[in-house]
Amino acid sequence: MKNRSQTTVITATRRAQIKSIVLRYERDRGRLLDILWAVQAKPGYVSESEGALIARYLRISPADIREVLSFYHFFHEQPAGKHQIFLDTSIISEIAGMPSVRKAFENELGIRIGEVTKDGKFGLFETSCIGMSDQGPAALIDLIPFPKLRASAVPGIIRKLRSGKKAGKIASPVVSGVRKLGPFFGAQEVFGAGLSKAAKQSPFEIISEIKLSGLRGRGGAGYSTGAKWELCANFQSPNRYVVCNADEGEPGTFKDRELLTSQADLMFEGMSIAARAIGAKEGILYLRAEYAYLQKHLQKVLKRVARHPSWGKFSIRIQLGAGAYVCGEETALLESLEGRRGEPRIRPPFPVERGYRGCPTVVNNVETFVLASQILAKGAGAFSVLGTEKSKGTRLLSISGDVAKPGIYEVAWGVSLGEVLRLCQAKSPEIVQVGGPSGLCVSANDTRRQISFEDLATGGSLMVFSKRRDLFHVLENFMEFFVNESCGNCTPCRAGNVVLLDAIKRLRAGKPHPGDRERIRDWSSIISKTSRCGLGATSPNVLTTSMIAFPKVFEKVFESVASSQIFPFDEAAATRDYNLAVKKVNRPSVKRAPR
Ligand code: SF4
Ligand code: FES
Repeated sequence: MKNRSQTTVITATRRAQIKSIVLRYERDRGRLLDILWAVQAKPGYVSESEGALIARYLRISPADIREVLSFYHFFHEQPAGKHQIFLDTSIISEIAGMPSVRKAFENELGIRIGEVTKDGKFGLFETSCIGMSDQGPAALIDLIPFPKLRASAVPGIIRKLRSGKKAGKIASPVVSGVRKLGPFFGAQEVFGAGLSKAAKQSPFEIISEIKLSGLRGRGGAGYSTGAKWELCANFQSPNRYVVCNADEGEPGTFKDRELLTSQADLMFEGMSIAARAIGAKEGILYLRAEYAYLQKHLQKVLKRVARHPSWGKFSIRIQLGAGAYVCGEETALLESLEGRRGEPRIRPPFPVERGYRGCPTVVNNVETFVLASQILAKGAGAFSVLGTEKSKGTRLLSISGDVAKPGIYEVAWGVSLGEVLRLCQAKSPEIVQVGGPSGLCVSANDTRRQISFEDLATGGSLMVFSKRRDLFHVLENFMEFFVNESCGNCTPCRAGNVVLLDAIKRLRAGKPHPGDRERIRDWSSIISKTSRCGLGATSPNVLTTSMIAFPKVFEKVFESVASSQIFPFDEAAATRDYNLAVKKVNRPSVKRAPR
């Protein structure tokens, strides 16, 4: 839980500054995230008094501000350090050496995780995944990524920051993670071809082409992109919106980082094509805060592409998120875009009917928009000829873990697991985790299984763990992730994942409680059936699929303690003290208090 907010006296200058920030966003509550980022920029946090002032200017309750501040990882309600350091705690980062890096930061700063140095210069925190699994262990310092960190580099980084150097000048560059690109993401792709073609087509023709291609959303759920656009176009409304979900938060995924870096023009092109298809004038790119360092670059690309003669009357703004995995869920993302906590909405209505500000909205992710632009450029046939019956075309995999060549691979859907492991040169693979914590675990021996919606569906992440790794360590890390990232709205997800985490911890320690096997089975079923959104619904998957893929690992722990845990229950001994006390009270010689 985040700490309580801090009350401060606001100077007249600060008051004027806050007022001008709120006015810059036209007192629009929907721009609350932007307002909070701007207010937080200087001192590094938003105090209770400042929150109350913002609330007054926006004519909302101070509680509305506090609930938003407390929801997002990167907002602070009390001093969090001039330099804010966030260490990546994903399992890939952990096995790549984060424990020694963490220790180095703690020693160098003389503080523990979650604390701020006495001089207020540094705050040290943890976060789940910053999209650097191919270059871990990594950290964000002042929202600048520091890839491939080593413990020995930490004193130098701190010294330079103390001397006034900016994080951006100290960090080593993020290198391209691309290993293999194919027909849809290769270097030959050029901006504008799809847009020019779309300009000559009717909305119906554009949607038909996308439908014909068989493109399914690359965010995870895999809904037909053409059908989504069609539904949105058919709802009557004066306004419609196109939203690009660049909140790639699934631990182990980093392909959108690469697309945003090198193919942002194609992503904007896909958004513009979607706008033409559904009749939207405005679009929003929701950029996760972990990729804030790409914001300037994206603005530049946007300015350039919007000059294309076929661009049309369509404007895009970039909205920076503030750190919340659940915002990757499309309705939570819309809540966040409207300046609220990123809590998933109850569906229906779906965003295609009532999305951003109550209007029909298409939400697709970065990869989907890039593909849409390429489908228009090359034709639906070039896309649908690849892949399997229900999984057309190619997709990007972010591969990390115990492999010689971590990185991004474009593969046709239907590729076998064995082929993927060969491509990335997996090292003694044992466990393969497909689709991030919300995905599933399979044995690396299942080489004939295929990456596809029909078999191993994935939002793009594929993590490989060698024989050296402890399955329970991996599972504990994933479950901790869900416990931290649950928005807390529904009980099964909020409380159930804690039950599962406790059980995994016991398994890891080799000390399960009697009934843990049933506890895991029952709670997994409750959580997946009764949670409101995909986060809760999928959170037990990785555990339950591991139990199927690695039954011996679980049996060994369950059996080893089954007998030692069951103690005979001696009722007489257990109640002896109680009976003695009762006898004593009832003895006539005991004086009673006067009535
Ligand atoms: S399932 Fe979890 S993340 Fe989703 S709404 Fe419920 S508590 Fe929030
Ligand atoms: S949050 Fe209390 S029952 Fe849903």
